[in-house]
Amino acid sequence: MIEQAKTDLTNVVVPPELYRSRAFVEGKRPIVSLTDVRKTYIMGKKGQGPESGAVIVHALRGVSVDFYQGEYVAIMGASGSGKSTMLNLLGCLDRPSSGQYFMGENDVANMSDDELSDVRSRYIGFIFQSYNLIQQYTVLENIQLPLTYQGSGEISDAQNKFTEQLATMVGLGDRLDHRPMQLSGGQQQRVAIARSMINDPYIILADEATGNLDTATSHEIMTMLGNLNEAGKTIIMVTHEDDIAGNAKRIIRMRDGNIVEDGPSQRMIAAAAGLGARGPLVNVP
Ligand SMILES: Nc1ncnc2c1ncn2[C@@H]1O[C@H](COP(=O)(O)OP(=O)(O)OP(=O)(O)O)[C@@H](O)[C@H]1O
Ligand SMILES: [Mg+2]
Repeated sequence: MIEQAKTDLTNVVVPPELYRSRAFVEGKRPIVSLTDVRKTYIMGKKGQGPESGAVIVHALRGVSVDFYQGEYVAIMGASGSGKSTMLNLLGCLDRPSSGQYFMGENDVANMSDDELSDVRSRYIGFIFQSYNLIQQYTVLENIQLPLTYQGSGEISDAQNKFTEQLATMVGLGDRLDHRPMQLSGGQQQRVAIARSMINDPYIILADEATGNLDTATSHEIMTMLGNLNEAGKTIIMVTHEDDIAGNAKRIIRMRDGNIVEDGPSQRMIAAAAGLGARGPLVNVP
């Protein structure tokens, strides 16, 4: 349903160039578009007495934002500002309470549960802070997990070959039979990156992907994501860390369920100005 050039994995490991902006493409249609999206959680039930009365949480208060193919976006903001809520909506893990969500031509906000999980398994790759690997499964089986949510359940030779390519891409080609507990945190997150790529997704979404990792390993994971972006993948990540966000091309800041700032990252500003140094972060309305 969505037109997409398949990623050529032989080109994934490319030396990242400093400046190749596809972030703000004029005259191009977004691949993902949110318009006045609200997400409200109602906690507790009515009629349980005043102490346990319903509490309404406005997690998103009318967010409008577009994402374009090839973007590399960091979403930042204080705890509770709505970052994960927005990422989960983008990833079709949840539906907005109101507002529009279009992925290409498709009206995601009004899809059925089945349609939603179909979009999720075909077009979206997820990377989570806690890796979310299945402990009983091998590296190979974990990478292939999204495939089992669609199709006949049979894994083809081509898919097995692709899995091995992905495992090699993340440096785990010789660990296909290992189980998560036999791997370091960084290696587990690399399995998650390979898993996120198995369907050659439209978008990779990462929520605090380096939150549990040391600095050197975080850097390694970010290099890997950077290479995927250079190879054409759209990446949207949530992070608390300025230096992690600095890898992105565009930075969105959230506060109390709203986007309060949205613009190019410092490296993009510096590169655009032809400077080696970091430039100031600007507000883009
Ligand atoms: N399933 C839920 N039920 C009720 N409230 C929720 C739910 N998920 C999130 N919230 C609330 O919505 C608000 C936004 O939460 P969200 O998880 O999006 O924040 P966040 O920016 O990701 O924070 P953090 O940096 O701590 O991960 C918070 O007030 C949170 O308590
Ligand atoms: Mg969060």
